[in-house]
Amino acid sequence: MSDDVLDAATDYETILVTRYGPALVVTVNRPRALNALAQQVVAELLDLTGRLAEALPSADAPAAGEWVCRGVIVTGTGEKAFVAGADIREMSGMTPEQAEAYARDMHRVTLNLEALPVPVIAAVNGFALGGGCELAMACDFIYASENAAFGQPEVSLGLVPGFGGSVRLQQRVGVGIARELIMTGRRITAAEAHRIGLVNQVFADHAALLDAARDTVDTIAAQAPTAVANAKATMNAVAHRSVADGLDVEAAAFRAAFTTEDSRIGRDAFLSKESASFSGR
Ligand code: CAA
Repeated sequence: MSDDVLDAATDYETILVTRYGPALVVTVNRPRALNALAQQVVAELLDLTGRLAEALPSADAPAAGEWVCRGVIVTGTGEKAFVAGADIREMSGMTPEQAEAYARDMHRVTLNLEALPVPVIAAVNGFALGGGCELAMACDFIYASENAAFGQPEVSLGLVPGFGGSVRLQQRVGVGIARELIMTGRRITAAEAHRIGLVNQVFADHAALLDAARDTVDTIAAQAPTAVANAKATMNAVAHRSVADGLDVEAAAFRAAFTTEDSRIGRDAFLSKESASFSGR
C-alpha cells in the first residue's frame, strides 16, 4: 500500500502528505511565506512524485505496482494562499544558471504530476500566483475556493513565467487571454478564472473545496483504475496532435483497454446488471 510513500513523507519539512480514503492530499506547508515554492519544496515534491510514480502501476505496465491511491489533491496550508509563487527571497540571490536549474527541477515536478496514472486535482485556496498558478495548471483540473486569486505577475518582477506558465496557460485558456494575463501580470478572481475555463468549480471555502475534491476522488475510485489511467495518458498524448494523429493514438488506447481484466469485469457487470468490482489489472 501507499504506506511506503507515507513513511517517506514523514521526513518532508515543507509539504504534508495525508491519506483520505483513496485520495492522497499533498499540502504545501510554508504558511509564513504564503507557501512559496522554495527549493526545498521543489525537492520534496520531486521526491514524492518520483516515489508515487514508482509505487503506482503505469499505463505501459499495468501489472506492475499497486493502486496506492486513486487520486492526488494538491493544496496549500491555510486560508490565505495556495502557493504565492516561486520564492522571491531565494531567487534574489540566484545566478542565471541557478535560476535555470530551479526552473528545470520544478518542470520535472510538473511533468511527473502529468505522468501519474491517477488524476491530480488542484484545490486552490487563496493566492495562486506565478509558480502557484503554474503548479495548479500541471494538475488535471482545478477546483477553487471563492477567495482564490490567480495570476502570472512575473513581469512586475522583471521576470517571465518559469515553471511552465508560458506553455500551459495558453493551452488552458487560449492564446489571447493567456498573453493578456502574462503581459499585464493582472490578477484574476476565482469567478473570472471559472469564466475563462481555468477553474472547473468554485466552492465557499477551503473546507468545502477539500470535501468536493475528495468526493471527486471517491467518484473516480469507483471507476476502472486501468481505464482512468489509459484515459489520462491518451489525453496527454493527443494534446498537441492533429485530429487524425490523435485518433490513431485513441484507437491504440481503445485496443489496449480490451487487453485489461478491468474491461472484462466492467462489460460483464453491465450485462449481468451488477455493479463492477474492478481488479485494477
Ligand atoms: N516568495 C517569498 N516570500 C513570499 C512570497 C513569495 N512568492 N509571497 C509572499 N511571501 C512572504 C512575504 O515576503 C511575507 O513575508 P514577511 O512576513 O517575512 O515579510 C509573507 O509571505 C506574507 O506576505 P505579504 O505580507 O506580502 O502578504 P500580503 O497579504 O500583503 O500580500 C501577496 C499577499 C499579494 C500574495 C503578496 O505576498 C505577493 O505579491 N507575493 C508575491 C506574489 C508573486 O509575485 N508571485 C510570483 C513569484 S515569481 C514566480 O513565481 C516565477 C515563476 O514563474 C517560477
